[in-house]
Amino acid sequence: MKETIDRLRSEGLERIKAAGNESDVEAIRVALLGRKGEITTLLRGLKDVDPADRPAMGAELNLLKVDLTALLDSRLGELGGGGSTAAMVGDLTLPGVPPTPGGTNHPLLSVMESICDIFYGMGFTRDDGPEVELDYYNFTALNFPDDHPARDIQDTFYIDPKICLRTQTSPVQVRTMERNDPPLACIFPGRVYRNENADASHSSEFFQIEGLVVDKAVSMADLKDTVDTFVRNFFGAREPTRFRPHYFPFTEPSVEVDMQCVSCRGKGCGVCGQTGWLEVMGAGMVHPNVFKAAGYPDDVYTGFAFGMGIDRIAMLKYGIGDIRLLYENDLRFLKQFRGVS
Ligand code: PHE
Repeated sequence: MKETIDRLRSEGLERIKAAGNESDVEAIRVALLGRKGEITTLLRGLKDVDPADRPAMGAELNLLKVDLTALLDSRLGELGGGGSTAAMVGDLTLPGVPPTPGGTNHPLLSVMESICDIFYGMGFTRDDGPEVELDYYNFTALNFPDDHPARDIQDTFYIDPKICLRTQTSPVQVRTMERNDPPLACIFPGRVYRNENADASHSSEFFQIEGLVVDKAVSMADLKDTVDTFVRNFFGAREPTRFRPHYFPFTEPSVEVDMQCVSCRGKGCGVCGQTGWLEVMGAGMVHPNVFKAAGYPDDVYTGFAFGMGIDRIAMLKYGIGDIRLLYENDLRFLKQFRGVS
């Protein structure tokens, strides 16, 4: 059978080359690949071939079939008129085929990536931690007292008394410090969970991006400069930022960072609740107890940390009024972000 296949290949090639018009090509197609064509007959006869040779023969024959079909099609194209592509190119009055709409990144992912890019530009690296987290990393190592209200079942989804869904990206601070010696400048983006009732500004899952810098002599001024550089790069404006005193168990001193409202430039409007300021993140200097939990000497290094809600930043950037839109996967909403990065 091998010789027959070889013969059919070389003869087929010659005949296709020699075909002078479309009906010649069709005649060759019928003679070789039609219902009673030579190749079709050989394929049918495969069942009588020695079982040991059958797979190799089958493969050879199929290859021959594919090759000759391609040759026939391209010869038909050369002779004009034939072949579906050739036909379409030939008749310019045919309606075009609408392009398949391509997928795009979800706006949250685009925002997350552009935030990461800004921090990579400042020399930060990236690390990740688990979403199903030990209570120890989510709270204890972050200097939350045992009776802190945030541990309350109202806010945290517990899987068992020692395991929860992380409520913040801050536990990755401790995991990263356990694995790396200072100096370090790292960001941790990811999904977090809180037991909240969904409304226009709350969702039981959302995204945060955390930052941590540890070195000798890191100061609050470094934090301010990092925050300003981020805001300027991300919002493309020279809006001033301000630090408001706040409390987080894992930073001391702690602040909330506001930027001047991008909508009204500080005059007061609906977007900023008439205050002229928009809250962008929580931040502060790493608490010595967090260094202790991570195994760092607390009298050698200082550091700052910050954490912001990616959803909130995306909503501010694109004027999205309801956080639920980011999780409903309504294509009418998502399609508006095609081409946005
Ligand atoms: N983890 C805090 C929150 O979820 C934000 C934060 C991060 C504050 C780092 C200070 C330092 O609200």
